[in-house]
Amino acid sequence: MLFRQLFDAASGTYSYLLASRKGGEALIIDPVLEKVDRYLQLVRELDLKLVKAVDTHIHADHVTALGALRDHTHCITVMGEQARVDVVSMRVTEGDTIGIEGLALDVLYTPGHTDDSYSFLMKDRVFTGDTLLIRGTGRTDFQNGSARAQYDSLFNKLLKLPEETLVYPAHDYKGETVSTIGEEKRFNPRLQVKSVDEYVDLMSKLNLPNPKMMDVAVPANMRQGLAQEEIARKGWARTPADVMKALDDANLALIDLRERSERDKVGAIPHSINAPYTDLVMNIRPGGILHELARASGKEIVFYCAFGERSAMAVRAAREAGLSNTTHLHGGVDAWRKAGGALVH
Ligand SMILES: [Fe+2]
Repeated sequence: MLFRQLFDAASGTYSYLLASRKGGEALIIDPVLEKVDRYLQLVRELDLKLVKAVDTHIHADHVTALGALRDHTHCITVMGEQARVDVVSMRVTEGDTIGIEGLALDVLYTPGHTDDSYSFLMKDRVFTGDTLLIRGTGRTDFQNGSARAQYDSLFNKLLKLPEETLVYPAHDYKGETVSTIGEEKRFNPRLQVKSVDEYVDLMSKLNLPNPKMMDVAVPANMRQGLAQEEIARKGWARTPADVMKALDDANLALIDLRERSERDKVGAIPHSINAPYTDLVMNIRPGGILHELARASGKEIVFYCAFGERSAMAVRAAREAGLSNTTHLHGGVDAWRKAGGALVH
């Protein structure tokens, strides 16, 4: 496995680059905007293909690189379903898995620092965001934080993991890089409380100043810009109503770009063909199934995904590959469902 802990000194942020092999797919957790060039260089040097960029929560102390990485690599951007952020193209919740070639992250909902805080468990290690820090815990006094919820996330979820589980947090300000669940249980001063009320009391007395970047970072992180806005301006988007009208039209092929887990959970638009976004480049080149489908059938290809972000990037890529009769469902299955569209399992 390839595992890199990357540091942004200005914000004390750790980002993690993961891949199962050199030359394979990669995923990055909590990337920082100022470090994008470094990440892209490392991805090139290790011959990796960045396919997913994940944030553990909306950060208040730095601007996320999710939007920039999406624009550079066309990767899938992932956050929890509670995150009020536009850039997200895949939303996850407790019990989901975030997969790339050869690696899987189990998704744990661990609110408290913020209401959109998640942790990700990968075999022997857990990425705890700002929920559990080394000898500390993330503050709970802004962004819908809750010390009570955090106590529950810590004591009833993270601390229940095997003691030898490695803890990789989103931040450290003292140069610590890694800990374990057992070590934190014994030596983390915030975890030596006897009850939830004691923890709430402790957290209420911290009196921390707001992060320097907060007024800039939070709004910037909520509005990274949508890939689909520009696609709509070009006239390459279809509304749910358009697609509903055309569903029985034999001249239209609906392509579901989501992953199997998303389809299983939410359902799919009837009569659609599944071709996951991560295989897109292969599928749209000559000889690929979508290329041949478009050429042989003459049908209009309508891509869709969960929110319209992956499908917007797919339309652009398909058109660049010479498939001009391609559009996408604006807003994805989310908009489809809100418009009363049928879904099948
Ligand atoms: Fe945070």
